Amino acid sequence: MMSNQNEHHEPSHKPPGRKEMSRRQFLTYTLGGATAYMAAGAVLPMVRFAVDPILHKKGEGEFIKVVEESKITDEPQEFSFELKQQDGWYASTATLTAWIRKDEQGKIYALSPICKHLGCTVGWNNDKSFPDEYHCPCHGARYTKEGKNLAVAPKPLDTYKIKIENGWVYLGGVEPNTEVK
Ligand code: FES
Repeated sequence: MMSNQNEHHEPSHKPPGRKEMSRRQFLTYTLGGATAYMAAGAVLPMVRFAVDPILHKKGEGEFIKVVEESKITDEPQEFSFELKQQDGWYASTATLTAWIRKDEQGKIYALSPICKHLGCTVGWNNDKSFPDEYHCPCHGARYTKEGKNLAVAPKPLDTYKIKIENGWVYLGGVEPNTEVK
């Protein structure tokens, strides 16, 4: 009778209890891990949503590598470059152009081709009656080499922010003309 009781009690104190614990722990960790993983999946995009506009704003100050410095002459030349834009979910690439030359002191500057009258695109030396000027085909605005407005347009052509680094010309955003005195 005594030995029977012992036999009956012993097993209930031993391994099964521990086994039960460890399985429960295992489940807790696994489920906990999965929940944390799913939560991160839901939260991270939200964080990115909140942070992206800030990054994007910083990106506006970026410079884009456009052309080797050695290719720039006194004569304005047209160069294209690509600007990546992010508008909400929509990513696009805009192709921009700049007229780049170096002035009499060897300083390089870049003009935006957007006419300051109503936004058509100007060209260099494209009107035989007015040589060595920028001319807008829409309503006849004219500008000097430095972008100074001579006719029709109310303001000089904008300039691009510029940076010369390791023999390359980099352009940034447009700003009010810095070349016209
Ligand atoms: S848009 Fe250039 S002259 Fe009007």
